[in-house]
Amino acid sequence: MDPHARAVLKDIPAYVPGTRALPRTESSPLVHLASNENPLGPSPLALEALARASSQWARYPDDDSAELREALAARHGVPASCVAVGAGSTALLKLLAEAYLDARRKAVYAWPSFPMYPVAARLQEAREVRVPLDGGGRHDLARMAEAAKGASLVVVCNPNNPTGTYVSEAELAAFLDRVPRDALVVLDEAYAEFARATAADYPDGVRWVREGRRVAVLRSFSKVYGLAGLRVGYLVAPPEVVEAVGRVREPFQVSAPAQAAALAALEDEGHVARTLHVVAEGRRRLQQLADQLGLPSYRSVANFVWLDVGRPAEQVAAELLRRGVRVRPGPTGTTWVRVSVGTSEEINRFEAALLQVLATLP
Ligand SMILES: Cc1ncc(COP(=O)(O)O)c(C=O)c1O
Repeated sequence: MDPHARAVLKDIPAYVPGTRALPRTESSPLVHLASNENPLGPSPLALEALARASSQWARYPDDDSAELREALAARHGVPASCVAVGAGSTALLKLLAEAYLDARRKAVYAWPSFPMYPVAARLQEAREVRVPLDGGGRHDLARMAEAAKGASLVVVCNPNNPTGTYVSEAELAAFLDRVPRDALVVLDEAYAEFARATAADYPDGVRWVREGRRVAVLRSFSKVYGLAGLRVGYLVAPPEVVEAVGRVREPFQVSAPAQAAALAALEDEGHVARTLHVVAEGRRRLQQLADQLGLPSYRSVANFVWLDVGRPAEQVAAELLRRGVRVRPGPTGTTWVRVSVGTSEEINRFEAALLQVLATLP
């Protein structure tokens, strides 16, 4: 590391994207189950909107993303002043950290969870409290509420990446009653659409924004909407939180074609429905496969499954990759891997490769 860079960077591992070494041609046989993307790709309507908007590359985009914000506000039943659009929900998470954390402030999040939480907190040199997931791979909300005393930011990843587990409406309501009122509770709902289609008691976090609570909901166009490459996400939060984020964000984060494609994707309910159907079926198959092989896994409500392959995760992932299937290994030293739900053909390929790998590795 450059000795002249900020000392805090030593504690921030470079992000390792699941997309490294993506196939370069359509005919490449690599099956990519490492980044929880939409196996059906983007909505055709989004692609058409993207093509129509592509004449606008020479111009700066609408910095306000006004049309998209209005559509999102209408969808969630909040004023547009409660919505901010950013370059993926990750960018908005970092902006929240910049706006609410510094060396005198505390951030609380569960672990293991999305690796960008520690990165965002550390860059601000904030105090971090990581609360281990409970034995069922779920947020330990009792301990998190305890840790939230004096915290500025409390993150609940719902559903949680990598476990796919979720916090119910009643659990979250009770938690919010216990968290000090001046802490900002961030509900990372990148996978909300999958969870809502799966679990009747999965909460709509925006409900608390409408009720005037200090809750900020993060949503993504990278998952169910299949636009990971375009980098669009949004935040639904009280107007003063949106205003604070506006002060730290750099202008023109989301291109005009990305705004147009996101708007079209939002309106293509048929594509969302097809995605949810394919993911529900694929996830059922992946969990059945894990059960048949006696590999422990958590019941996921998201578009990925976290399973214990009983061998070093990185070795299993490397062996799967040699057979043309990319999955996401858990941290070094663990035996867990995260497998994104693909099409049925992709799951066939994963199953065949996994059976070979398990037979090869003792
Ligand atoms: C929990 C969680 N939040 C946020 C993101 C990032 O989404 P985006 O592409 O909108 O930045 C991911 C992506 O993997 C995620 O798993």
